[in-house]
Amino acid sequence: MIVEATIAGIRRRLGGRRPVALVPTMGALHEGHGALMDAARRDGGICVVSIFVNPIQFDRPDDYAKYTIDLSRDKAFCEAHGMDAIFAPAPEEMYPQPPATFVEVSGISEHLCGRFRPGHFRGVATVVAKLFQITGPDRAYFGEKDAQQLAVIERMVADLNMPVAIVPVPTVREPDGLALSSRNRRLAPEQRRVAPALYRALEAAKRQLEQGTSDPRVAVQAAEAVLASVPEFRVEYLEIACAASMAPVERIDGPVRIAAAAWLGDVRLIDNVLFTP
Ligand code: PAF
Repeated sequence: MIVEATIAGIRRRLGGRRPVALVPTMGALHEGHGALMDAARRDGGICVVSIFVNPIQFDRPDDYAKYTIDLSRDKAFCEAHGMDAIFAPAPEEMYPQPPATFVEVSGISEHLCGRFRPGHFRGVATVVAKLFQITGPDRAYFGEKDAQQLAVIERMVADLNMPVAIVPVPTVREPDGLALSSRNRRLAPEQRRVAPALYRALEAAKRQLEQGTSDPRVAVQAAEAVLASVPEFRVEYLEIACAASMAPVERIDGPVRIAAAAWLGDVRLIDNVLFTP
């Protein structure tokens, strides 16, 4: 397993070898990342995992400070999933000077999480564009749990004619329904116990849509009723959005994401489910 911390080093290692599959991560790897790696491995090629906690996508310094990397643990995880290389740069390697150039994906970035996390998707799109420039992947893997991030990246790649195929990978859940996330480790036992209500709420909304209601408000109310039974949750948003544009919908007449962000204490959880009429 190759581990490279420099841009020149990873470029040298990859030079000319094709195809390259990239799994971008911020470390603290779990089986959600494992599913991205397994999909990359299945599709073949040189599988590279980037591990970089990207400072410019954090809207809150305290949130950034809570992300710590245990490279030897993550390396063992990547090895177990058959990865070939890790690119794990320091912040100074990625940003030797404060960046003056950013990738802004307007529209999609402004809804849902974008309303509450100013600059977040600009930071994500910028670092992913940099990672693409550095590793030159033929394919890159992103989880559907971060559906808005996935939509932002897909749009960036389309708009900027980046020669990379974006491969979406379904959300991995605990047996009780909680979507895997690095943030779950920070939940206190009681918070962890109630956390699956977020997914149950989204499923309740989806059931309404499956039963034929075309009014998103009816479905949202069903989800709100579930969350109201868990007073620990502080809901940031609970919305039904167009799966392509992420804009709120007035009627259900195409694929939508039922999406929510909610806080348990100081841990922010997000989740979504897809509904296609
Ligand atoms: O989803 C993540 O872990 C990050 O947002 C990403 C895509 C690695 C960019 O920093």
